[in-house]
Amino acid sequence: MEKVIEVKNLYKLYRVGDSVVRALDGVNFELYKGEFCAIVGTSGSGKSTLLNMLAGLEKPTKGEVIISGVHIEGLNEDGLVKFRRDNVGFIFQSFHLIGTMNALENVALPLSFRGESKSTRLKKADKMLDLVNLKKHKKHMPNQMSGGQQQRVGVARALVVDPKIIFADEPTGNLDSHTSEEVMALMQRIVREQKKTLVMVTHDNHLAEYADRVFHIIDGKIVQIEDNRLKQADNLPEEDKTGEKRKHNEIDKPDGKRKSEEREGESK
Ligand SMILES: Nc1ncnc2c1ncn2[C@@H]1O[C@H](COP(=O)(O)OP(=O)(O)O)[C@@H](O)[C@H]1O
Ligand SMILES: [Mg+2]
Repeated sequence: MEKVIEVKNLYKLYRVGDSVVRALDGVNFELYKGEFCAIVGTSGSGKSTLLNMLAGLEKPTKGEVIISGVHIEGLNEDGLVKFRRDNVGFIFQSFHLIGTMNALENVALPLSFRGESKSTRLKKADKMLDLVNLKKHKKHMPNQMSGGQQQRVGVARALVVDPKIIFADEPTGNLDSHTSEEVMALMQRIVREQKKTLVMVTHDNHLAEYADRVFHIIDGKIVQIEDNRLKQADNLPEEDKTGEKRKHNEIDKPDGKRKSEEREGESK
């Protein structure tokens, strides 16, 4: 599997008056292509700081952030701008849509910083809005859409540049719980279909269940990494003991393995 993000021994210290805040206190992990990772922790635990380091929006005090083999902490401002433009899509809590542009124009906007023709931009944006099930809302202005619809525009806009990585900081923080679930399911589907790497920050343990892996952060330290994919595999045949046996057969069978590999190959 292709390693997309590698974080080594990462520290971010802030000096506040006479004291020092350890916003990140020695963080290490690796993320792979196609993984949906949730960083979960209470307010002030260091989630946004970590995301900002990954996106190259802030410099670490110490440590390494390696994305697709490139040391982000070593890039200058121009290098960082280029890195973000070519590799990263962002989804924001408050959507950050331009109020005077319709859905299609909002989604097309990131492409105009890449010198693509207007017709190409609109064509790509159109396709992205189909992908997030907003076929009928392409001409709607942000204030003519619900919060969930606006965030789906936000997801489409993050994807339109075909980024390797998507960063999302509390993407459902302004949505009701039902709409949040819909947006989470959408992000989960897209990450799987398009083999993106999604890093989402949330304080909500329940929403983190949509992720493949959950990193629990407390006081700037990752204290636990849960793998939901293992849990899902465990959950399949829990009804009875014959089911238990069936599970082992299925997992151990060589042709079962071949099947999942085929599936990976298809979408490449
Ligand atoms: N620019 C800053 N200056 C000083 N302290 C900061 C700054 N940014 C964040 N912090 C502190 O670092 C810690 C982690 O903050 P943050 O990453 O925003 O947490 P979270 O996103 O999990 O709520 C908090 O104690 C916060 O007060
Ligand atoms: Mg935060």
